[in-house]
Amino acid sequence: MNILMVGDVFGEPGRAAVAKHLARLRQEHAIDFCVVNVENAASGFGVIPAMARQVLEQGADVMTSGNHIWDRKEIVEYITKENLLLRPANYPAGTPGVGHVTIKAGPHRVAVLNLMGRVFMNPIDCPFRKADEVVPELRKETPIVLVDMHAEATSESVAMGWYLDGRVSAVVGTHRHVQTADERVLPGGTAYITDLGMTGPTDGVIGVDREIILQRFLSQMPVRFEAAKGPAALHGVVIVVDPDSGRATAIRRLRVAA
Ligand SMILES: [Fe+2]
Ligand SMILES: [Fe+2]
Repeated sequence: MNILMVGDVFGEPGRAAVAKHLARLRQEHAIDFCVVNVENAASGFGVIPAMARQVLEQGADVMTSGNHIWDRKEIVEYITKENLLLRPANYPAGTPGVGHVTIKAGPHRVAVLNLMGRVFMNPIDCPFRKADEVVPELRKETPIVLVDMHAEATSESVAMGWYLDGRVSAVVGTHRHVQTADERVLPGGTAYITDLGMTGPTDGVIGVDREIILQRFLSQMPVRFEAAKGPAALHGVVIVVDPDSGRATAIRRLRVAA
């Protein structure tokens, strides 16, 4: 089974990259299941329902998110009804939406779990304990479990990879917007990468207009963020999973200039 996981879609350039390439990538790599992180789809801040619907139409089976999920208020109503858009599962109980879902993909079922780190981020419930709680439940439904570990610290993602090795098919990181070159299949059969990278403008500073960010670094004064213009790229991975055991056999990085 071939699985495509796409990193944080950022603003209009990111949405255009998805529109242009997702269907073709699905075909080219014979993709059976596709997960797209959409937390920055709306000008870098959150996602609105129309954009989420569009990404589903363009070929995503499930969308994940992260700390920016609540930036656009419109999403709260949508996320309570649409379980194909996940928010991190380790938000406190009572938070709108769900953090995991299991859906059919051809003859198989695939589960997706969205977690978020706590190092250099707003404190939320422990992602490791949340994984302990949720993964066994998901594995009752299917051996194919994909985890998006949305985190700032590389160490926290690496730790989650080892923690879940042999218990899930993949642990992929998002949020940092820079693709890491450490993709591998861990000894227990879990495909791992610290960060998928961003799907958005390449000539800004992790998505934002570079002049604005430079001004902020130089002056230390607050600035209003705007998405960078210019060229874009889609970043992600293709993972090969044995659907019967749920074990990954390969992971390959993708970088597609848009
Ligand atoms: Fe992001
Ligand atoms: Fe994020």
